[in-house]
Amino acid sequence: MLKQTLLKATEQAALVLKEYFQKPFSISNKEGINNLVTEVDHKSEQVIFSVIKNQFPNHTILSEESGEFIQESEYKWIIDPIDGTVNYANGIPICCVSIGIEKNGKMIFGAVYNPFIGEFFFSEKGSGATLNNQPIQVSNKSNVSTSCLVTGFPYTYLDKPNGPLQVFDKLIRAGIPVRRLGSAAIDLCWVACGRFDGFYEHKLQAWDSAAGFLIVEEAGGKVTDLAGKYYNPYQPGLIATNGKIHDQLVQIINGGNV
Ligand code: IPD
Ligand code: CA
Ligand code: CA
Repeated sequence: MLKQTLLKATEQAALVLKEYFQKPFSISNKEGINNLVTEVDHKSEQVIFSVIKNQFPNHTILSEESGEFIQESEYKWIIDPIDGTVNYANGIPICCVSIGIEKNGKMIFGAVYNPFIGEFFFSEKGSGATLNNQPIQVSNKSNVSTSCLVTGFPYTYLDKPNGPLQVFDKLIRAGIPVRRLGSAAIDLCWVACGRFDGFYEHKLQAWDSAAGFLIVEEAGGKVTDLAGKYYNPYQPGLIATNGKIHDQLVQIINGGNV
């Protein structure tokens, strides 16, 4: 029932995204001038809440636009009602609904759905990962210098040694393609299905990565914090790769040469 409810919540929220896409809707700013929230983020969130509460009224929910509703439960739903809101607000079809479910603090389900290109990524702990019900796997490349990477940048500039722009600068100067899609959940899923060999980002929130990190792991990839240690979605940095380039990418992000 948990899986069915997750699929239903993700699909119904995606219908909301489709309904309002490229139509007029209200947009406001959160912190910073381009950290947007649209009317559709809130509508998507409400649809997800009602599906969950209908089936599991006692589960804890953490959702980007409404915060956390803590309950006495071993289950916690971690929700990004639109990941890629800036893309969505500009009519760019690289955005998705992302929902992860934790049981006793461990991620057990992840669903990421981009309805604009019809891609539904799903994973259940221990059962692999799928794209539109077909099993997926990470890529096979073994060297960063021949890899295709993706990253993202926070809404407020992080100027520190080995910060987002320094790492980006180093990789680009070495001739390595580093893409920037604008949706961390999709970045992770595209590592999981082998389109990218690695993804890194310096400042994410739990709802950006909760579903996607399980999807990468279940597709055979590796996810750690920026130091290359155990990944916890409640801290900011993330490196997700096919596993083979992981140690090398960790070194580069921490100041090493390409
Ligand atoms: C953002 C996207 C983006 C990432 C940002 C996130 P939002 O989420 O995932 O790719 O670079 O760090 O905040 O605001 O579109 O839900
Ligand atoms: Ca997000
Ligand atoms: Ca969001």
